[in-house]
Amino acid sequence: MGFPENFLWGGAVAANQCEGAWREGGKGPSIMDVLQHGVHSLPTEGIQPGLYYPSHESVDFYHRYREDLKLMEELNFKVFRTSIGWSRIYPTGMEKEPNEEGLRFYDNLFDEIHSRGMEPLVTISHFEMPLYLSERYNGWESRELIPLFEKYCRTVLTRFGKKVKYWLTFNEINNVHTMPYAAAGIRIDRASNKAEEQQMIYQAAHNMFVANAKAVKMCHEMLPEALMGCMLSFSGVYPNSSRPEDVHATMEIEERSYFFSDVMMRGAYPWYTRKLMERQGVQLRMEQKDLELIRENTNDFLSFSYYRSTTIKDGVMTTGHTGGVKGIDNPYLDTTPWGWQIDPTGLRIVLEKLYDRYGKKLFIAENGLGARDEVVMEQGEKRIHDNYRIDYIHRHIRAIEEAIADGIEVMGYAYWGPFDIVSAGTGEMEKRYGFVYIDKDNEGNGSLERIKKDSFAWMARLVDLNGDWRSL
Ligand code: BG6
Repeated sequence: MGFPENFLWGGAVAANQCEGAWREGGKGPSIMDVLQHGVHSLPTEGIQPGLYYPSHESVDFYHRYREDLKLMEELNFKVFRTSIGWSRIYPTGMEKEPNEEGLRFYDNLFDEIHSRGMEPLVTISHFEMPLYLSERYNGWESRELIPLFEKYCRTVLTRFGKKVKYWLTFNEINNVHTMPYAAAGIRIDRASNKAEEQQMIYQAAHNMFVANAKAVKMCHEMLPEALMGCMLSFSGVYPNSSRPEDVHATMEIEERSYFFSDVMMRGAYPWYTRKLMERQGVQLRMEQKDLELIRENTNDFLSFSYYRSTTIKDGVMTTGHTGGVKGIDNPYLDTTPWGWQIDPTGLRIVLEKLYDRYGKKLFIAENGLGARDEVVMEQGEKRIHDNYRIDYIHRHIRAIEEAIADGIEVMGYAYWGPFDIVSAGTGEMEKRYGFVYIDKDNEGNGSLERIKKDSFAWMARLVDLNGDWRSL
């Protein structure tokens, strides 16, 4: 038992959920800047005066990243995952030349990450794109985005290639189905019927697959030492009963996600999606070379987020959330106030399934507990007693250790939101994941003060022990 010597312990955030400074440094508006209540809400028509948009200030990482990364160093982290805001580099996506101020910000950020003893793991597009691209082209539904993304990738790979060796293309690409605006910049609410909606979704996915393959190719040609991974959301899904219909329905739900990783890791459209698209009348517009490109440029590793599990009952509608698909509650598991069921063994199962399917290295790019934390005053000091978070991580770490003992190659574990950030799902601040509390509420009030929670010291020690929880 135990974790490999070079295991990458760390934390993960996304630019739009922490940076703020939405109009500074030449940044253009992004799709997240017009959302008030997270990825399931509809965007407002442009920025409406007087309305509150959580991404505009977020937790002000843009100005406070040095302070925050110092705390990450104290956690003994080896890796820090963040994303590049596309609209910081190309404000509308259309410019011929990149925005130097935006590039400089990430130059400084990656330097700081290194100087704090961490490797950056960089998502090229985490639930965002320049707003202009969504409005003009309906996001990834249009093929026009492929060369624009290629240009963006070439810029960041050229500029940061010496500083970043771990890359991810799109965050949770399989959420194109369930949160199409955030994951692909498409407005399915503008589709006139279900068939049109499905056409948009699959077309966007196809264009993103081509863009992903081009990014992999570019990375391999330009940076032979670097790795380009893909990133999916994989929650655990179980049949609600042993009824064969429930088992089959579960399989179909799993295939909705496997579709994405099959294309990017195996390099081909799987048979089950071809059939599904045919039945739904989807006709992909593609170019001759697309499939060859996809076949020849598969991702180097598979990263994924895992928060919880759910159960599937045939005939009962499922919904999609940031934590993955949601069906029926499992009576054997505890549930958070946000309805997420805590299931460490589910993580072990997902790791085993993914390794079995692809046989390539896995990276846990997100895992964590969103909870309502309370600040209490003790001997004149602000304290946050978050034992529930310690318990959550402890149990998940043990599950990962067991998977590693089974022979699965896990590269690392990035805890989601190591300091409190804006929730992607709801736009709230009060759904907190951090080891560091940030004083800000759902309406945007607060001093932005950073306060260590009890879990901070515990996590720092766990990482220092390379995950040896027995010695804690
Ligand atoms: C993942 C996303 O789906 O879940 C993150 O990649 C997100 O952006 C995380 O923040 C947790 O979800 P939420 O809704 O609790 O912020």
